[in-house]
Amino acid sequence: MEYNVEPLLVNYKTLEEFKKFKEYGIQELSMHEDLEANIIENDSESPFYGIYFGDKLVARMSLYRRSAKFDQYFEPPQDYLELWKLEVLPDYQGKGYGRALVEFAKHYNLPIKTNARLQSHDFWRKMGFETVTYNMERDLGQNPLVWKP
Ligand code: COA
Repeated sequence: MEYNVEPLLVNYKTLEEFKKFKEYGIQELSMHEDLEANIIENDSESPFYGIYFGDKLVARMSLYRRSAKFDQYFEPPQDYLELWKLEVLPDYQGKGYGRALVEFAKHYNLPIKTNARLQSHDFWRKMGFETVTYNMERDLGQNPLVWKP
């Protein structure tokens, strides 16, 4: 099944769709506040990508490029993509949406770092991600996983 991964725009419709996702939090709330305060323009770009089923957003992730300067995960340090908030709405799980978003991220041909929720480790392993040996002090409470092109 081919899915169309789209960059998501910051507007009230997108923010309304985001409320259905479990990992709705500070990032979405600040987008909302920025919109209300006109700090960002309606329909400006967000770091989110998603897949629609009809006009319903059913899967999404946040994806942004980090500079090698901040790299703690790859040797030697290099530019990489930070992927987080990957989530597929319950009724749409197991249909390839998660894989489609991860493959979209892989197309940039940069290393990817993510933080896995505990129950999703098997999914990430299937996507070719591995745990990193990292400095625990710098990354307390996270489960970083990486993929290399
Ligand atoms: N554990 C093990 N394997 C999993 C899995 C999981 N939780 N979720 C998906 N897979 C496997 C699928 O069986 C599939 O394998 P296949 O290609 O061999 O058939 C592959 O990973 C791709 O699956 P896909 O359909 O793309 O996954 P998805 O669209 O459901 O997305 C998540 C995966 C984890 C992002 C999504 O299910 C999600 O947001 N879940 C909610 C939070 C969570 O972590 N739940 C875990 C279960 S409690």
